[in-house]
Amino acid sequence: MTVKVTVTGAAGQIGYALLFRIASGQLLGADTPVKLSLLEITPALKAAEGTAMELDDCAFPLLRGIEISDDPNKAFDGASVALLVGARPRTAGMERGDLLQANGGIFGPQGKAINDHAADDIRVLVVGNPANTNALIAQSAAPDVPAERFTAMTRLDHNRALSQLATKLGVPVTDIKKMTIWGNHSATQYPDLYHAEVGGKVAAEQVEEAWLRDTFIPTVAKRGAAIIEARGASSAASAANAAIDHVYDWVNGTPEGDWTSAAIPSDGSYGVPEGIISSFPVVSKDGKWEIVQGLEIDAFSRERIDASVRELVEERDAVKELGLI
Ligand code: NAI
Repeated sequence: MTVKVTVTGAAGQIGYALLFRIASGQLLGADTPVKLSLLEITPALKAAEGTAMELDDCAFPLLRGIEISDDPNKAFDGASVALLVGARPRTAGMERGDLLQANGGIFGPQGKAINDHAADDIRVLVVGNPANTNALIAQSAAPDVPAERFTAMTRLDHNRALSQLATKLGVPVTDIKKMTIWGNHSATQYPDLYHAEVGGKVAAEQVEEAWLRDTFIPTVAKRGAAIIEARGASSAASAANAAIDHVYDWVNGTPEGDWTSAAIPSDGSYGVPEGIISSFPVVSKDGKWEIVQGLEIDAFSRERIDASVRELVEERDAVKELGLI
């Protein structure tokens, strides 16, 4: 059956890197035909039309139609996957409250439109920043959708961590298992090498402690800024790639003996307050994310997880105060 996939911010740079991969079958698998729904703000509809023309010109065998709209109620109608990419970026001099308020004006109405019009099996991935809190805003506007269907993307951070460690040890990324990003998709995130394994042995024991603490963690956490510095624009193709990875694993399951990272609503595991959309080590089974249980958290990791979760709690409290959730 054809699956409708809605992408917001479809005319933006991540949208451009994402739509062709969805249409080629990489999001859901090579057996699933897709219909694309592109949501944009009115001034960007023309650019979205241009992208749609290019999609047509690829003659993708799995692409069964493209819709373009500036109305969330239409764009999410019947959607089974929603990739919420378009967001209000922070501009110079903007306070956090203004940023959250502006994004509340986007993710609140989109959450409501998903609630009212999406298919029963809707799965939502929020990419637009601040992703974890935007996901919380959308979720709270969609009381009829099971809460766990709202997730935020930390898969790019996860992939960055895999790549940094693989380069350090001179191994292929496929040798690394059980990488985890904990917390917020922000500079406070904690990429954890104490549970990651390389060739079946604990990763933290194969690198110097100083490298782990002073190079690896900040390099992964600040990679987004380093990309902007080098490229003059923020990560786009790698962000699109991570969105593909996240949804593909969610729908098709994670490989046996491994896990991945995704920001999902906390059930209270690892001391993360219930309801907060925080990144955890997760597996996907039968189309559902499950938090990997029973990991021992040492004092070093505890401190870092707590710091990132504290930031998420502050963001949650701020959007509550603004009446956005
Ligand atoms: P962009 O500025 O190139 O594109 C954003 C698009 O969203 C624009 O075309 C804009 O017209 C559209 N848009 C704005 N408001 C909208 C609304 N209400 N409905 C529909 N569309 C709307 O930005 P880019 O580079 O594509 O990034 C998008 C977001 O992804 C940003 O918030 C960025 O910070 C975030 N991001 C998140 C990452 C993650 O790992 N979670 C990684 C990289 C970027």
